[in-house]
Amino acid sequence: MLGVAKDVRIGITGLGTHVPERILTNDELSRLVDTSDEWIFERTGIRERRIAAEDEALTDIAMPAARTALADAGVEPAEIDLLICATVTPDMMFPTSSALLADGLGMPKAAAYDLLAGCTGFVYAIAQAYGMLASGLSRRALVVGGDVLSKILDWEDRSTLVLFGDGAGAVVLEPVERGGFLGFELGADGGGGENLWLPGSGSRRFDDPDSYVKMNGREVYKFATRIMVYSAEQVLAECGRTVDDVDVYIPHQANKRIIDYAAGKLGIALEKTVVNVDRYGNTSSGSIPLALEDARVEGRLRDGALVLMTGMGAGLTWGSALIEWTNGRPR
Ligand code: ACO
Repeated sequence: MLGVAKDVRIGITGLGTHVPERILTNDELSRLVDTSDEWIFERTGIRERRIAAEDEALTDIAMPAARTALADAGVEPAEIDLLICATVTPDMMFPTSSALLADGLGMPKAAAYDLLAGCTGFVYAIAQAYGMLASGLSRRALVVGGDVLSKILDWEDRSTLVLFGDGAGAVVLEPVERGGFLGFELGADGGGGENLWLPGSGSRRFDDPDSYVKMNGREVYKFATRIMVYSAEQVLAECGRTVDDVDVYIPHQANKRIIDYAAGKLGIALEKTVVNVDRYGNTSSGSIPLALEDARVEGRLRDGALVLMTGMGAGLTWGSALIEWTNGRPR
């Protein structure tokens, strides 16, 4: 799917994030499985990640992120009429995490549903919220992206264990006077789905299900490097922009090597690229909002800055969003 925004301006007016307190370093991991800080850092750029406590579920880390995003936008929970939560690790299949969040936050008028698109979930969710707002169905939306992948990892499998971490972010989407989303590109390829999958997690019967993430790292690496470039080029061209126009590049934080490759191939300077995979690992749907927050803290989200976000992940799925950042009051 590829499309540009027409006359309706919808922007991000609030942003919030939250990560669990517990920091797990590479050295600690090397005491659990046969790995080392050197191997992990060299191959992925990851130094440490956050890990949820045993009794901490997705909504426990998403809730503070959502509250911060609402306060940042100056919006009361009751004013939200749409809540989408992108995650592959909901508290449970139902009630949905979005329904639990809407209830906990106090959003009696909100439509609420979970969205499942792997690590691309956040990009899919902002595209959907954009569509609902642009059509006039929704007036104000809260989009949450977060995962607690530590709960679905095999803690004896070094090939996946070292890559992921837990975290969440949330954004408020509203009509804005200037700037806002310019376009989106979204795609999926179920044919490559078995390169990153969770057999036994749904209604399909497997003989020996263990419900842990399984990954063919090399195939995912090839897919990721190709698609990050393709998706970004598609959305930029469709919106009539070039890589030179991009002020802030927010790639999905899976692996520093994938980020460096994509930025290099696209021709986006590393100074414009946000990287925090060293501190958080791959937080799946939390990855892009966590990187947005870092960009903001570093003062990069200036009014009018052109921000390119690209995600990719299980499905296989991918997606890009191009937005002209708006600071200040919404319309
Ligand atoms: N510590 C030490 N050695 C390891 C580890 C580890 N944690 N994991 C694997 N190895 C070993 C392998 O067994 C292999 O050993 P062998 O040569 O004796 O067989 C060796 O290291 C090299 O393995 P490769 O898989 O070839 O290593 P590679 O350089 O490809 O790096 C990696 C592996 C980091 C997983 C890479 O393939 C990658 O980044 N893939 C993409 C993964 C990804 O980003 N997934 C998620 C994206 S989508 C989403 O966000 C859900």
